[in-house]
Amino acid sequence: MKKSNEQKGNMQPIRLENNINSISEVSVISQLQDVNTDLILSLCGKKLGSGSYRTVYEHNWDKRYVVKIEPNNTECNMAEFMLWSEVCGLCGDLAWVKDWFAPVLWMSPNGKILVMRRTQEKDKKERPRKVPDFFTDLKRENFGWIGNKFVCHDYGFIHKFIKYGSKMQKVRQDAWW
Ligand SMILES: Nc1ncnc2c1ncn2[C@@H]1O[C@H](COP(=O)(O)OP(=O)(O)O)[C@@H](O)[C@H]1O
Ligand SMILES: [Mg+2]
Repeated sequence: MKKSNEQKGNMQPIRLENNINSISEVSVISQLQDVNTDLILSLCGKKLGSGSYRTVYEHNWDKRYVVKIEPNNTECNMAEFMLWSEVCGLCGDLAWVKDWFAPVLWMSPNGKILVMRRTQEKDKKERPRKVPDFFTDLKRENFGWIGNKFVCHDYGFIHKFIKYGSKMQKVRQDAWW
C-alpha cells in the first residue's frame, strides 16, 4: 500500500489563521477563564519536558504528537515552523536532510503553540556517533527517535540551515551525549 505524505513525513506544516471576526470578539472570549483553561486542558496532556524557551506536553487527543508552548517572544516555534517548511520539500540529493528533523504539523496564528511529531528515547548505545554539521545544539535531550530514524526535535535555534552540506561532525562520547 502506498504511504501518505504524512506517513512519509514530507507534509508542509499548516500555519493556522486568526478567523475570529473581530478584535473585540477575541477580547471577550479570552476573558472567559474557565473556557481558556478547558481549551488548554483539551490540547495539552502530560508534561514531557522543558527547555530554556518552551514547555512540551503530550498532545491530548493524538499521542503521536507533542504541543510546544512558548511563553515569551523568543521565536523558536516560528524558527522550527519555517525550517520544517523548507526541509520537508527537499528532494533529490538533499532528500536525506529531512530525515534528521522531527516534522511540524501546525503552528498557532501567533506562534505560541506548535504541534510536532513526538519522538521517543532509546537506549544510549543506539545513538549515532555522528550527526550532520548543520546542527548546533547537540544536547542529548534535543534528539530522539521516530521509529528507526534518529531526529532532532529542537531546531529552534539552528543557524546553519542555509547550506545543507553532507559534512558530518563527531559527537563527544560522554554522559552529555
Ligand atoms: N518532539 C518531541 N517529542 C518528545 N519530546 C520532546 C519533543 N520536543 C521536545 N521534547 C521534550 O521537551 C524538552 C524541551 O523541548 P525543546 O524543544 O528542547 O525546548 P527548548 O527550545 O526550550 O530547549 C526536550 O528537551 C524534550 O525532553
Ligand atoms: Mg532544548
